Amino acid sequence: VVEDNVASVVVLVTGGCGYVGTHTVVRLLEQNVQVVVVDNVAWTNDGTEGSKPKSLQRVEELTGKTVVFHNIDISNADALEKIFNSYRFDCVIHLAALKSVGDSCRLPLDYYRNNVAGTVTLLEVMKCHQVKKLVFSSSATVYGEPQYLPINEEHVTGQKVTNPYGRTKYFIEEILRDLCKSDPEWSVICLRYFNPVGAHPSGRIGEDPAGVPCNLMPYVAQVAVGRRPKLAVYGNDYPTPDGTGIRDYIHIMDLAEGHWAATKKILQNGSKGSWLAYNLGLGRGYSVLDVVKCFESVSGRSIAVDFVSRRDGDVASSYSDCSLASSQLDWKASRTLTDMCTDMWRWQSINPHGYQSN
Ligand code: WQD
Repeated sequence: VVEDNVASVVVLVTGGCGYVGTHTVVRLLEQNVQVVVVDNVAWTNDGTEGSKPKSLQRVEELTGKTVVFHNIDISNADALEKIFNSYRFDCVIHLAALKSVGDSCRLPLDYYRNNVAGTVTLLEVMKCHQVKKLVFSSSATVYGEPQYLPINEEHVTGQKVTNPYGRTKYFIEEILRDLCKSDPEWSVICLRYFNPVGAHPSGRIGEDPAGVPCNLMPYVAQVAVGRRPKLAVYGNDYPTPDGTGIRDYIHIMDLAEGHWAATKKILQNGSKGSWLAYNLGLGRGYSVLDVVKCFESVSGRSIAVDFVSRRDGDVASSYSDCSLASSQLDWKASRTLTDMCTDMWRWQSINPHGYQSN
């Protein structure tokens, strides 16, 4: 059984410089796990050339620990090979992916090449090196249009998925299922994120989308800090109490703890030959206007809104049933919407331009 305070575990985190990656790496380092990060930092806009991206430098400041970082694209088999020749990984946490729903509709081949083909390359190198334990960053989008609410892991996946990004996550889940069937030495846990938001309570790391934020919370935060004049609310004619879309927002720190809980489970020998999937959410929904009101109250700023037409592909309401993760991973999200908005606001007000702020 893996104790909470393990010293000898070595974990590879792909995409470890990003929003989910940095918060997950902090949690791993706090458990004395040795962390190696590979990231192509294609997204970074903090201007760092060559050295560690600022996000990872802040992770090191926060934890007082060192992270080994290699600027590598997971599609580069030779570069991955060198990493696997240098470290004995106990497992891999695979977060690296392109994640913009809108971009995926415009550039589907980029998404299939980077997310799907890139993952196959990673899996082939893992197989060669007998590293057969994987925690995979999946998404609630694999559920498509909810057939019932709350959504549990029995809900059908891959039907009516509304975008290529969501389909890449579904296809990868199925590739991993086939891999586990072909070789019982593999163990895989797919974590289906609902809507990760917020930031580390220190305000030193957080979400730093390049360009105009596609997601609600970072956009609201940028309005509050004065970077954007107002929020466009995509539809207030949904069949919901206030007409705006309902989602299951989960604090990024709860999500990071969910990754540690999954890593502990997958490192236990009993998990061999298993393919498992768990929802990571708060287990309740909040509307767009709930989020706006909460953010206004924690920031003391008013958020101007403009009601516009619905966004293609959006569903009215989506929220999770996370009882499986609670019983099998001994994990449950605990942070409230107020915690999410408070921590997001601290990050945004201290870093109005994200990691580019000095
Ligand atoms: C939330 C709500 C919008 C922006 C997406 C991806 C999902 C995951 C999380 C990667 C909806 C409304 C939003 C805005 C708005 N990403 N909204 N104005 O669409 O639930 O999920 O991000 O894993 O895969 O699909 O999140 O934050 O974009 O939208 O009114 O400017 O806010 O209509 O109701 P979504 P979101």
